[in-house]
Formats: sequence, structure tokens, C-alpha cells
Amino acid sequence: MEPKELSEQLKRPTGEAGLEVAKALNESNQGLYDLAFEMLDLKPNQNILEIGFGNGRHFSQYLEIEADLKLTGVDYSAYMCEEAKARNATLIDAGKLTIHCSETSSLPFKENEFDLITAINVIYFLDPPEPHLQEIRRVLKPGGSFLIGYRPRQSIEHLEFTRHNFLLYETDELIDLIISTGFSVSAQQTNNYEKKAQGGTTFEVSDAVLTAHKKN
Ligand SMILES: C[S@@+](CC[C@H](N)C(=O)[O-])C[C@H]1O[C@@H](n2cnc3c(N)ncnc32)[C@H](O)[C@@H]1O
Repeated sequence: MEPKELSEQLKRPTGEAGLEVAKALNESNQGLYDLAFEMLDLKPNQNILEIGFGNGRHFSQYLEIEADLKLTGVDYSAYMCEEAKARNATLIDAGKLTIHCSETSSLPFKENEFDLITAINVIYFLDPPEPHLQEIRRVLKPGGSFLIGYRPRQSIEHLEFTRHNFLLYETDELIDLIISTGFSVSAQQTNNYEKKAQGGTTFEVSDAVLTAHKKN
């Protein structure tokens, strides 16, 4: 796949190719999700929203850590919504998960609904970011947590597909943006490791997670 097409599929997976890209992300982003789950302090009865859930592979991972949660997902790709619904039919039927196909700049929720909102590999596509972050803040309870999983600019800017559609951030730039939209930053963690590419060469991966709270 050409870098520009890959970039478009990462931004909004569409059709058969989008389903394949989303499947590949499950493997390449598992480490980032694992880091995010390490940083989450999930508690019974929490109302949790994941935005940009891709094919919805990770909803069950929340419930493996804490069974008594109410989960909601928002993604604007109709293909991802259908795939996530099919994959998580049991959770949906049990009333533990609700999927909404919508855009993060206009969320279909009341103010102060969620205890926690997560966004893994989504921040790059919120352009400009402010209206999306204000909307995320609106639906978060006062003191509620917002977790962003991302790869810092320096670690992915050499990948050609990031030259299209991606807004890249170093950690300090992301912190400034989050603070300027009404959050306080509570933790930041980065995990660097080497990965083998096809052909046997290795490259360095940097998984980063920032957690913030909605200021009252
Ligand atoms: C790169 S994928 C990441 C999927 C998954 N979170 C992961 O890390 O493997 C980005 C996802 O965010 C969704 N997305 C991007 N911008 C969005 C927006 N403004 N509103 C709703 N969903 C969005 C895309 O449709 C896609 O499913």
C-alpha cells in the first residue's frame, strides 16, 4: 500500500483494505495498549469512553482487568463500528458495551458523563485539536481522567505515511496543548524498545502514554 493510502486508512479505515489495516494495528499497537492499561487505575462501576477504537479488539481487555465497568466506544468509521459490533456482540448483548459511529468534535453525550476517556493513536488526526479536546472535556466528569496513547514525533516522523494527515507531537508539546484546553497533566510514561522489521533489520519503537484530569 502506498504511504498516502496507508495514512488515509489509518485516519479512517474504509472497506476491505481498512479492515486489514485495523487487524495489523492490533499486533503493532498491543504494547501501547498494555502500557495504557498499566497506567489506568480501573475501579468498579466506572463509566468509560474509548474514542477511535479501530476494530474494537481491546474492549474485552478493560473487562479482564475490572469486570464491573460500563464501556462506550466512539469511532467515525462506519466499517470500524460494524466490525467492532460483530466482534463484541456478547458484550453488547450483555449491556456492557455501547458503540456509537460519530465524530469526536460532536459527541452524542451529556456533559459530565464519563469517569475516564481513552484515545490510543487518535490524537494525530484531530485537526485542529482544540474543538475535539474541548468536546472530550465537556463529556468528562470534573476530576475525570483522559488518557492519550501516542508515538512521539521523533519516533515516527521517519515513516513516510506520517507525512500525510498526521499532526505529530513531542511530549512537551502535547502537555502544553492539553493544559491549554483545561486539563491538568498527572502522569507521563514512555517505553522504548526494538522491533524487528521484515527483512531482519531492527528499529526503535517509542510507546508513550499521557494521563490528564479535567480541572474543575
Ligand atoms: C490509527 S487508528 C487507531 C485504532 C486503535 N485505537 C489502535 O491504536 O490500534 C485511528 C482510529 O481513530 C478513528 N478516528 C480518527 N479520527 C476520528 C474522529 N475525529 N472521530 C472519531 N473517530 C476518529 C479512526 O476511524 C480509526 O479507527
